[in-house]
This record gives sequence, C-alpha cells and structure tokens, in this order.
Amino acid sequence: MQNIPVITVDGPSGAGKGTLCLKLSSTLRWHLLDSGAIYRVLALAALHHDIPLDDVNALVPLASGLDVSFESVNGTTKIVLEGEDVTFDIRNENVGAVASTIAAIPPVREALLRRQRSFAMSPGLVADGRDMGTVVFDNADLKFYLTASAEVRAERRFIELKEKGHDVKISRLLTDIKARDDRDINRSNAPLKAADDAIIIDSSTLDAVQVFDIAMKEVLDRRLV
Ligand code: C5P
Repeated sequence: MQNIPVITVDGPSGAGKGTLCLKLSSTLRWHLLDSGAIYRVLALAALHHDIPLDDVNALVPLASGLDVSFESVNGTTKIVLEGEDVTFDIRNENVGAVASTIAAIPPVREALLRRQRSFAMSPGLVADGRDMGTVVFDNADLKFYLTASAEVRAERRFIELKEKGHDVKISRLLTDIKARDDRDINRSNAPLKAADDAIIIDSSTLDAVQVFDIAMKEVLDRRLV
C-alpha cells in the first residue's frame, strides 16, 4: 500500500461523492473503491441470510468471508454477491439504512478493513466513503471531505428518484437523510468526520463539474499525476 497514491473522498450521503470519485478515477485511470457498496452488500447478505442486525457473532464471519466481486463492465461496475448480480438491489433506501446500522458495529468494520485496503493497486486509488481519510487510508496523499446541506441532498435525491419513476416525498427523504447522518456521525467507531488534513468542499451551491474542477486542481497542484 505504501507507494500507491491514494485520494480519499469522505462525506455524508448525497453530497456527490460517487459522482466525483467516478470522474476522478476515470480521468486519472485509477482504481475506484466504493466502500459504501461493501457495507450495502454486507447488509443485503445479512437480510438474505435472515441474520438479526445485532447478531455480531454471525455478522463478523459474514463480513470477513463476504463472497462479493466488483467487475468492470463497459465503464460501469457490476456487483456480484454469492453469484447473484446485486448492482441495483443494494441501492434501495432500506439496504442503505441496514448498512448504516451494521456499519456502527466496530468488529464488523474491523472485518472489512483488509478487503478495503486491498483495492489500493497501481497506478492509484480513489476511495469513496465515510472513514477513508480518517481510518482506512489515513496516510492518503490527498483527502477531500465533500458535504452539502441536508436540504440540498434531499432535493437532489428527490429529483433522482422522480426521474426513475419512484413516488417519493421530499419530507420523508429529508427525515431519512438526517437519521442516516445522525447514525454515521454519532457512532463511536470511525464516525463520519473530516480528517484534520482534508480539504473541505461544500457542494450546496456547486454543480458536479465545479466540484470536479476544484478537486482536480488540487490533484494537479500536488503533482499526483
Ligand atoms: O455511501 P453509501 O450511502 O452507499 O453507504 C451506505 C452506508 O454504509 C452509510 O450510511 C454508512 O453508514 C456506511 N458506510 C460506512 N463507512 C464507509 C462507507 C459507508 O460506515 N466507509
């Protein structure tokens, strides 16, 4: 891991981390770690196996032996759990809520550490999550903390779901986002927070291109490529 350059992007859900990381990794031609997807896959596996969300003795071996693969298909990532394509299933709100519940269990996080670090491969890695810059890659070369107000994040999610034909209420989305923020920020182990050396970007009034331009300028200033 020592010599592989790593850029971390942490922040709350809906801040635009996924879009920024995808753009950075494809521009730099570096690997991409979507650590939230790992927690989501674990959540789905727990649901499939009827494992109670507080059963640490069952969740830890499930996490360390998680049979998941991330396959690159035409510029997108196909996620396969126990032989089944779960790329779309892991994105629903319930799976996100279960993911944030089990992500608060310290031994579960510990069990996923090595798997996440194994994504650091030449020529470099862009890592998306909540604790990438604070825990998993605390020696990263460049760290971002991307945030936006809960209201703006709920509105973005609302537009995204409406476009997909889902019937959702913005007030409900805002409540869910605040509940998830609360769980992620207030957990004792690896809580969501900016690393001391992270560059903070508030995307509340920025679009995806502006966020990317700010991040890319930092990458170039540091001569990471
Ligand atoms: O980023 P995403 O919304 O897919 O993550 C789902 C949940 O997984 C988050 O709400 C968070 O609780 C958890 N997570 C985490 N640490 C990470 C990435 C995600 O605890 N590095």
